[in-house]
Amino acid sequence: MKIIVCENYAEMSARAAELIAELVKAKPDCVLGLATGSTPVGMYKELISKNEAGEISFKDVTTYNLDEYYPIEPTHEQSYRYFMNVNLFDHIDINKEKTFVPNGLTQNPEEEGAAYDAAIEAAGGVDLQVLGIGQNGHIAFNEPDDALIAGTHITSLTEDTIDANSRFFASRDDVPTRAFTMGIGSIMKAKKIILLANGKNKHAAIAKMLDDKITTQCPATILKAHADVYLFCDKDAYNG
Ligand code: PGA
Repeated sequence: MKIIVCENYAEMSARAAELIAELVKAKPDCVLGLATGSTPVGMYKELISKNEAGEISFKDVTTYNLDEYYPIEPTHEQSYRYFMNVNLFDHIDINKEKTFVPNGLTQNPEEEGAAYDAAIEAAGGVDLQVLGIGQNGHIAFNEPDDALIAGTHITSLTEDTIDANSRFFASRDDVPTRAFTMGIGSIMKAKKIILLANGKNKHAAIAKMLDDKITTQCPATILKAHADVYLFCDKDAYNG
């Protein structure tokens, strides 16, 4: 894992965006794996600026998002489809028909999960996957557990994830308790991975990921088995 410790959130966002921009320039029809949450918002702003400045174009880029609440309407203000539109897709020259988010209304998660993974494969696989990390060490909604699932699937959110995400909802009771998420296998197939983490509240998860052996109780530890991972973090997340 290549570890890049940045002064602050702004530097972390800019440096991560630079890596994505390099890829988009080198491979204009690349496949990006994207993440939601507070962490990547600054990086998305940087990508929007680069697109506005004409430095990069997303017109041939395809994107697959990691996860979506379940059940949720794509038009719901807290859905991840809505988040991606508002924080990135509405502001860049991407073809929205080439942007994919797991279907938060699926009636057939097994079939749709397999189809999501198959579509990623058919698109040539994810060239670069963006990840955040939960305070409990989750990646996407692969929560700490006795076992992890390889493919895209429906999962239950842990109480601490519901607590962490309640800041976006009117009340804790409004937070969906399940999600449709890419699995660990789907994530690990990406050719390159960028993990972003900022703030003291991520320090314990980052320290555990770096120091612990690979364990399903901290899903991010499995990233140590991937050959091309960049951790972009700020000093607070790295040092505590
Ligand atoms: P955050 O979420 O970026 O909002 O902190 C990250 C995550 O839970 O994976």
